[in-house]
Amino acid sequence: MPFLSVRMRASLLGRHVSGAERIISPEEIPPILCELIRRPKKYDAMKITIEKVSSVEVIRNSLKIRSYKFSSPEDGREFAVKELVKAGVPETVAQKGVELLKGGPGPGGRVMRGAVLLDINSGERLEPDRARGIRTTKIDWKDRESVRKKLLGAGFTERTLDALALATKNIHCGVLAELCWSDDPTYTAGYVAIPDRGYVRIDPLKHEGDPLGGRVYFILKDRLKEVMGCLQERAMLIDSLQL
Ligand code: COA
Ligand code: AMP
Repeated sequence: MPFLSVRMRASLLGRHVSGAERIISPEEIPPILCELIRRPKKYDAMKITIEKVSSVEVIRNSLKIRSYKFSSPEDGREFAVKELVKAGVPETVAQKGVELLKGGPGPGGRVMRGAVLLDINSGERLEPDRARGIRTTKIDWKDRESVRKKLLGAGFTERTLDALALATKNIHCGVLAELCWSDDPTYTAGYVAIPDRGYVRIDPLKHEGDPLGGRVYFILKDRLKEVMGCLQERAMLIDSLQL
């Protein structure tokens, strides 16, 4: 059966405000387009991409979710570093990841349009373009609606549904650990994703009102090309949610 990657992005005054994607069969195009175009609250431009994908791999299970609460972002960040160290990231490199997101990882201390790639051993930045970074795309849930119900029923949000899918694909593609907190000033939680521990949600990882954030993927430099290809090109569906 042919599959399609459908991606929507919207901007307001030249600034990215909303993005979403699905992997669907052709008969699902009308309802999915209706859903995606309603997603951004306010925008002045929207782009929809519909692209045929030749094959779709199935990831059996999502990363398992664990949640930790802290009284300050400083404590949350300290915990994040400890989790990254457990995944084999040297402490100095883990700390570099935190500092990059704290200061804005893009040129001039701005946010990026994708993720930073750091060599797990040396901390060297590997992404070809420091303003753009690398975006993980072509990932979705096999039965998104039932996973959504389960996750929302367990007290999580739609945002976690999407972030969990993205992090699951990242680990599947050979990212050895990921650190993320949003650039949305109102959203202070973030996560560390690690193969053995899963999706470790950490609340808070930044102060309310802080407009900086991003994603750092810790990878092996020798596998740069292969990991980038997987993150950007290989289409994947996740079968089951692990709670
Ligand atoms: N942040 C900032 N700018 C973005 C952006 C983002 N997340 N996504 C797209 N843009 C802007 C950039 O200017 C980009 O140009 P660039 O390639 O030079 O950076 C431009 O839009 C064109 O992007 P496009 O090629 O249309 O996007 P894409 O095909 O790489 O798709 C999205 C990206 C929109 C799918 C992705 O950013 C996104 O939001 N994904 C949703 C994540 C998710 O929830 N996944 C799990 C689903 S279960
Ligand atoms: P968000 O979780 O949407 O608030 O995004 C936080 C940061 O993650 C953004 O500032 C980008 O730098 C980065 N980002 C957004 N989308 C992607 C993606 N699809 N893949 C990798 N990084 C992304």
